[in-house]
Amino acid sequence: MLLHIMILSLFIFPFTMALGTLQGSTINNIIKPNCPTHCGNVMVPYPFGIGYDTGCSLDNSFHVTCNTTYEPPKLFLRSSDFEIYNISDSEVRIHTTVSYRCYNQDGSVRNEFDWWISLSKFTFSQKNKFIVLGCDDYSLIRGTNGPDFSNGCLGLCSKTQDVPSNGNCSGMGCCQTSIPKGLDYFNISLYSFDNHTSIWPWNNCGYAFVGEEGSFVFRGVTDLYADSNVEDRIESSVPIVLDWVISPDAGCSEPTECKGNSSCYDVEGGGYRCRCNTGYRGNPYLDPGCQDIDECADPGTNPCYGDCINTLGSYNCTCPAGSFGNAKIENDCQRHKDSKFSSSIFIIAMVCGLVVILSAIMGILYGIRRRKLMKLREKFFEQNGGVLLQQKINSQGSHAAMTLFSIAQLRRATNNYSQDNIIGRGAYGVVYKGVLYDKRVVAIKKSKIVDGSQAEQFINEVLILTQVIHRHVVKLLGCCLEEEVPVLVYEFISNNTLFHHIHSKSGGMSWLSWENRLRVAVEVAGALAYLHSETIMPIIHRDIKSTNILLDDNYNAKISDFGASRLVPLDHEQVTTLIQGTLGYLDPEYYNTSQLTDKSDVYSFGVVLAELITGKKPIGADRSNAEKNLATYFVNSVTENHLYEVVEQRILREGSLEQIQAIGDLVKRCLNPHGRDRPTMKEVVVELDNLRKFTTHPWTQQQTFQETRSLVLDVEQLDLYEVPLISFGTKDTESHLSSTYMPFEENIPR
Ligand SMILES: *[C@@H]1O[C@H](CO)[C@@H](O)[C@H](O)[C@H]1NC(C)=O
Ligand SMILES: *[C@@H]1O[C@H](CO)[C@@H](O)[C@H](O)[C@H]1NC(C)=O
Ligand SMILES: *[C@@H]1O[C@H](CO)[C@@H](O)[C@H](O)[C@H]1NC(C)=O
Repeated sequence: MLLHIMILSLFIFPFTMALGTLQGSTINNIIKPNCPTHCGNVMVPYPFGIGYDTGCSLDNSFHVTCNTTYEPPKLFLRSSDFEIYNISDSEVRIHTTVSYRCYNQDGSVRNEFDWWISLSKFTFSQKNKFIVLGCDDYSLIRGTNGPDFSNGCLGLCSKTQDVPSNGNCSGMGCCQTSIPKGLDYFNISLYSFDNHTSIWPWNNCGYAFVGEEGSFVFRGVTDLYADSNVEDRIESSVPIVLDWVISPDAGCSEPTECKGNSSCYDVEGGGYRCRCNTGYRGNPYLDPGCQDIDECADPGTNPCYGDCINTLGSYNCTCPAGSFGNAKIENDCQRHKDSKFSSSIFIIAMVCGLVVILSAIMGILYGIRRRKLMKLREKFFEQNGGVLLQQKINSQGSHAAMTLFSIAQLRRATNNYSQDNIIGRGAYGVVYKGVLYDKRVVAIKKSKIVDGSQAEQFINEVLILTQVIHRHVVKLLGCCLEEEVPVLVYEFISNNTLFHHIHSKSGGMSWLSWENRLRVAVEVAGALAYLHSETIMPIIHRDIKSTNILLDDNYNAKISDFGASRLVPLDHEQVTTLIQGTLGYLDPEYYNTSQLTDKSDVYSFGVVLAELITGKKPIGADRSNAEKNLATYFVNSVTENHLYEVVEQRILREGSLEQIQAIGDLVKRCLNPHGRDRPTMKEVVVELDNLRKFTTHPWTQQQTFQETRSLVLDVEQLDLYEVPLISFGTKDTESHLSSTYMPFEENIPR
């Protein structure tokens, strides 16, 4: 080892000495004397230094290794094989490594590699993202930053056309998610739903890696082909950003490494760094510290049109003797005028003085008014839970981008909350359509009343939504805490609610074909599966219903309204004192026991699914007693083999018998009275997706498809009601739903 280092330093010395003298003054005092300055093209500033125990670094946790067998030489972090791109005053960028899992045509694994990395004293920056590539892949990243952390990402697509080619990494073939602050270890593992068997011809591998946000550009489906070389491209161009600090366990309150003319600043999460005071430059960690900048020597950045005198930390620029003015402005220095003009100068000075005094008085009055207004805004900020929100965000390490809008911005956007801009009214508040200054169209939700519980609900929604980034979840853009009531700003979803599309016309809107209904179901289920299991802390929506599912211009579904949602720590069942939900969609088990689990969302989703394929409202006031509750009515129909009576005519025409049976069975399982017997949302996604593939890939199933098709046609010609539909599933069929409901109003707590 010692021999190695000696050989290494022998190699590097002549090279770096030459560089050191070449760049003389700029490198001056950045690197420890007699230590190499560069390795290849990479500069190594102190506290980093080349070599173990050479004294060139602050301590051995900052040592780096330069391997000169490469041309140009390569720099590695400590004695590892993590190659360094560059080192800055707070970060180190190293090459990333890609984890992968490739499959053979028959679904067996061809080769795989799961990467892990552990650092001591450095942590992974929040500039990094966890990225997963593949159309049938999900990947988990686990690590520790004090508490254990795990997060996942899921890339799903069934045909090449699904994969966006515009570089969007948004869940179709490419998925990205953030990692928390302070992580110093992680490992990555990859999984697949279907072992790539259905997409094998154009995508046989899944990849996952961590890299700096923006450094990887997804080139669409070309990155998914087997010969894409995407792995090499990533490993040679995508950096992982590491944050470094001096003494992770210490802070500025203790003796520090900060040398002369520099100051110490604490870094959030532990440790500190030093920086030169203004007017000084150099390396704050090296004796004798930062050096004064001679501003007069650099008129480009420090213009002076008079006499320039350098001072410590600054400079004096004065007009030449016998003149006055501001020497930093060109042609501003003026000769002193003769006494002839002095009387007029005196008058001008008097007038100016008067004006100054008057404006000072105005200023003070304005200041007082302003202070009052500020006080009021602060009060609202507090009342709206701003303080609580800040605390929660800090403690949870939430880090999504959130804009705090001002009152004026939102008033302008909504025409001062004009009646004409109202697009919805709910139990909680009014929703306005607005246009921001940058022409973005947004939905602005303004609470109706102010009280403590409202503020909490509001914060709840903010906290949850800042952690969720998903194509099929409405995006929260920001909020305004200064108004009397809390105000949230969302992306504007233009095309009304799913409820509207299903029920506003008998038989639903024309676009609601069997295939589109399945797609909407998969989108909603996928988003729920994501909320339940892919976020840092599982999220239970608690109020899934067709009025909370919005549609955009292309009829893509987006889940909204997280006012009732809950974050659930892993392995915890939540007992809630406040039952929330909507009649007709509410899980009876949750209603009876107050035990909140993710299976309550599964139940509500089951009702939405039933609504989607029957076109009937969940509670039909105009239906007979036995049919009033859609959930009960549907389950009974499946059990008693007359599902075809409730299913929309159009679905009977467009879907195959098998598909309708399968979906009926799925709904029945979702509506199981016992939460533990319901499928998870993930399982629901897989089943729905399989049903969908059945329609979108008719060629793979041509035989069966045509058979069922003709069967359905025959049925139509004969008599629909005489063909029994086979029922699947469990035997316990008695409904628990109809009688357990007490009449209570929507959204009213028990
Ligand atoms: C430099 O890299 C080469 C090739 O990977 C390796 O064989 C050699 O051991 C390395 N040298 C040092 C000093 O690490
Ligand atoms: C996928 O591959 C794994 C490992 O080879 C195997 O255990 C699993 O059964 C396969 N799954 C499918 C759906 O083919
Ligand atoms: C710089 O200018 C100020 C004000 O003009 C003066 O008080 C100070 O002594 C000057 N400093 C030097 C070093 O000339």
